[in-house]
Amino acid sequence: MEKNIKIFDTTLRDGEQSPGCSMNIGEKIEMARQLEKLGVDIIEAGFPASSKGDFNSVKQIAESVTDVRVAGLARALKSDIDTAWAAIKNAKYPRIHTFIATSDIHMKYKLKKTPEQVYDQAVEMIRYAKSKCEDVEFSAEDATRTRPEFLHKIVEGAIEAGAATINIPDTVGYTTPEEFYEIIKGIKENVKNIDTVDISVHCHNDLGLAAANSLAAVKAGATQVECTMNGIGERAGNAALEEVVMAMRVRKDIYPGENRINTEEIYRTSQLLTRITGVEVQPNKAIVGENAFAHESGIHQHGMLENKKTYEIMTPESVGLSKNKMVLGKHSGKHAFESHLTECGHDLTKGEIEEIFIKFKELADKKKDVSPEDIEALIDGGHRVKNEMYKLNRYTVNTGNTITPIVSINLDKEGENIENVAIGDGPVDAAFKAIDKIIDIDFTLSKYVIKAVTEGSDAQGEVFIRLGKDEKYYNGRSTSTDIVEASIMAYMGAINNYFNEAGGR
Ligand code: KIV
Ligand code: ZN
Repeated sequence: MEKNIKIFDTTLRDGEQSPGCSMNIGEKIEMARQLEKLGVDIIEAGFPASSKGDFNSVKQIAESVTDVRVAGLARALKSDIDTAWAAIKNAKYPRIHTFIATSDIHMKYKLKKTPEQVYDQAVEMIRYAKSKCEDVEFSAEDATRTRPEFLHKIVEGAIEAGAATINIPDTVGYTTPEEFYEIIKGIKENVKNIDTVDISVHCHNDLGLAAANSLAAVKAGATQVECTMNGIGERAGNAALEEVVMAMRVRKDIYPGENRINTEEIYRTSQLLTRITGVEVQPNKAIVGENAFAHESGIHQHGMLENKKTYEIMTPESVGLSKNKMVLGKHSGKHAFESHLTECGHDLTKGEIEEIFIKFKELADKKKDVSPEDIEALIDGGHRVKNEMYKLNRYTVNTGNTITPIVSINLDKEGENIENVAIGDGPVDAAFKAIDKIIDIDFTLSKYVIKAVTEGSDAQGEVFIRLGKDEKYYNGRSTSTDIVEASIMAYMGAINNYFNEAGGR
């Protein structure tokens, strides 16, 4: 009989914990909706007790999705469980995910508790969580370095106390496929009533084995895999969803379980995450890297021309890489444009389509061919900032190799015209300094990424900016064939996002 493998996505919790991957509430909701479309079974939306911001975003995500379970993480503490429950209780399908460390080293040095105390706390808190929420998951943190007898004991206690999912994390990315297979097998053979619950696995990638370890666990009987898009997560990251899912699909002969993932949404989900966080995947990244389906050598190309299966174990279309290479230009009408958007899976309002169509026409006037990548960049750069307290009216740049770059900026602040001028190390630096003079708030520019959307010197430049203030981050992005303009617009986007979160001033 085929079994069901649940995909538990923790991009918005463990993934978001990784350096450079923080997202604001609007971005998290957008990501959660895309994960729902992708077909994950559970979204771990955050760790509500960790901060007010996390609480709010978990709550809003719980209220924004309907076709997916929403989990909130909680230490095995009453206060954490109360906060997690308050954040997720309005979800259609809520889950409390509670955890405590079980390895000797964590219990002794981090928790400063005996195994007996940890056991009692885990059981008591699972019962407490269960009194609030029907669906409770328990994680034995650092399970792969936990003494097997204690792991079996605490897992058995957790099941008795009402946990319906038992998660076995490889918290420090230490295990190997063969060892992890044996750990899961050992749990299956030694824990009473283990067949009544889902065994979940949660692997970190410190040795580059997270996906392989997850798959070995599935082979041993795990029925839930915790993973993140693009493999983002603490340190070297978590098991990459796209790798685990595609390995199970391509090697169905080895992993006969079924999952709900709509694999054609994988590429779009990966791209959305990249655009939101500004964290690119390496070009040779499995499944979603730029070169994952590129065949460069003559021998490979020859083989591909004779029969694609010579070098292709899965099609690019199966992960959602567009078959549609239609190039639109300035003579393309709204109808062709709209049908292109629909074919690419965009679900935009009439107003959004109208707005992007105007931008498309402007771009087509500057650039002969507008590619699908250009249009994706327009959509992404165009509709992310909700309210713009500051809008760009105009700017002028005077620069050269023998003069100091100088930029004058004119902004509209709710009907008022404000202008300032600054010099800088280059036109972008001068532009940012002129804007800083107008806004008069101290931000730290913690990230500035610029890349060409397509080839050619008329390509659009895509700019991602992250501004930091008071330990919080505000992202902005924009595209334009003029990189100074794209930089200014991205900078303004981050500033407007700051005002949207701070509620204006
Ligand atoms: O890596 C880990 O152990 C975790 C737990 C909280 C599940 O992220
Ligand atoms: Zn983790």
